[in-house]
Amino acid sequence: MMSAENRTFENVKAVILSAHKNTTSSNKITFYDNWAENYDQDVAILDFRAPSLAVKSIDSHFAGDREAAVVLDVACGTGQVAKLMKRHGFRHFVGIDGSRGMMELAKKTELYQDLKQCMLGEEPLPVQWGSFDVVMITGALSMGQVPVGVVRELCKATKPGGYICMTTRSNYDNLEYKAALECELKRMEEEGLWVCVDKTEVEDWEKAVSEKEEGYISGCLYVYKTLAP
Ligand SMILES: C[S@@+](CC[C@H](N)C(=O)[O-])C[C@H]1O[C@@H](n2cnc3c(N)ncnc32)[C@H](O)[C@@H]1O
Repeated sequence: MMSAENRTFENVKAVILSAHKNTTSSNKITFYDNWAENYDQDVAILDFRAPSLAVKSIDSHFAGDREAAVVLDVACGTGQVAKLMKRHGFRHFVGIDGSRGMMELAKKTELYQDLKQCMLGEEPLPVQWGSFDVVMITGALSMGQVPVGVVRELCKATKPGGYICMTTRSNYDNLEYKAALECELKRMEEEGLWVCVDKTEVEDWEKAVSEKEEGYISGCLYVYKTLAP
């Protein structure tokens, strides 16, 4: 891959469109392993706002002791969420991701007390249930990445009264996934597992890369609060 300083929007577009060819989960993870080195630079070019919007929302909802709170960063990638949360007073992070390449960069941030490799949807979430104050998942709940059913595991991993913050894309190729996700979120609310405390549709989520779209694509942010069993 080209060195990070020379990256352009056209390079980023080509990388992301190439990901659409990765139909199997192992192909997808190889894609992220190869993208890891340029990921931070490329998502800045893309103006990818999911991590900052998610952290802003958690910052406004979380009223507990931030220094003591334990955060599970699911599909942590290179560690963008933990870096932003640290600025808001959070100190303890556990990261999970399928890509060793991405996690190598997360490890370099020195923010994670533990990093676990796991293919979500294929392997169970490798954590103890009910042990996290906040669970974050940004940029990974979408078609071809983390299956919708994993949100139940995210809820189980959270302490009663804890928060789960999730994001997904609202553009045309993710609409079916988004509808299935919202169905599951609602079903879990009806089962008394959690309540929705924030749902925000955002128009300028990230720059569009497909030929069918221009400008920015939209996305959605959800925050749920778990209820005592
Ligand atoms: C777009 S990146 C988002 C990274 C980070 N959360 C952020 O917002 O910058 C998506 C991440 O999800 C991970 N991922 C995608 N599908 C996964 C799966 N099924 N299991 C585990 N990790 C997965 C990728 O390896 C990648 O690091």
